[in-house]
Amino acid sequence: MTEHVIVTDEGPIRTIRMNRPEKKNALTFAMYDAMSEAIVSAGGSSPIRCLVICGVPGAFSAGNDLGDFMKAATGGQGLGNPIINFLHTLARCERPLVAAVTGVAVGIGTTMMLHCDYAVAANDARFTTPFVALGLIPEAASSLIAPRLMGHRRAFELLVMGKPFSGEEAKAAGLVNQVAPADQAEAEAMKAAQVIAALPPEGVALSRRLMKGTSDEIVQRMDEEAAAFGQRLQSAEARAAFAAFFNRRSS
Ligand code: COA
Repeated sequence: MTEHVIVTDEGPIRTIRMNRPEKKNALTFAMYDAMSEAIVSAGGSSPIRCLVICGVPGAFSAGNDLGDFMKAATGGQGLGNPIINFLHTLARCERPLVAAVTGVAVGIGTTMMLHCDYAVAANDARFTTPFVALGLIPEAASSLIAPRLMGHRRAFELLVMGKPFSGEEAKAAGLVNQVAPADQAEAEAMKAAQVIAALPPEGVALSRRLMKGTSDEIVQRMDEEAAAFGQRLQSAEARAAFAAFFNRRSS
């Protein structure tokens, strides 16, 4: 496993903390695997009733590790199994998922919200999905869920134009439920998790399943996006964007 994801159980609540502060919680394959494992093992007969996903002060997540994307671009690989598996795991997650977002939430750091049942943004949160500017396309079924959630035009601003959303803008768009001071976001998320965990679990599970519908459509869109994303990773636009990120301090 990896020290970059810390999983802690407190009674019926499991906290999954992304913990790679020196890289603003950029996500590696090992981190995706650890998060998938923490989500899957909370399902079935596990006594866990709610999951809370969070980051570190100033960084929920800077999105996928661009070094890994660069390797995939030059090595001719696609999105990578750990990422695809993590996305499927999010779509099929059996327990309510709560997020506490402080600081940057880039790429999948933002699109993860679309799979959460409750989300708290700190007032320093900054949601961005610079997919298109990076030569890429939206992922995590965001191309399906975001327009449904916030309407095509706001989703276009976020997913295509890469407009950053503050916590308040994310709340107005329905991406999060509430905004809290940065030092209280996790506590607020934990309060929501406690409310959820105290409810009758079968009622929660059934209600959630009815509200979300089948995960098949979501998984299918994730796979369609992943196929196109894999191709975009090989594009000259994407390679140039990754190189520009890593050369930004020398230019
Ligand atoms: N992949 C790999 N490394 C990343 C990263 C990423 N997605 N995001 C940040 N880092 C690294 C930086 O390279 C830097 O490493 P270094 O100190 O060894 O040079 C470190 O994390 C801190 O990042 P820095 O850019 O100095 O912090 P910042 O506060 O100025 O900016 C971000 C934070 C998140 C706005 C900025 O790092 C960024 O734009 N990252 C890329 C986000 C992205 O495009 N993700 C992919 C989405 S699909």
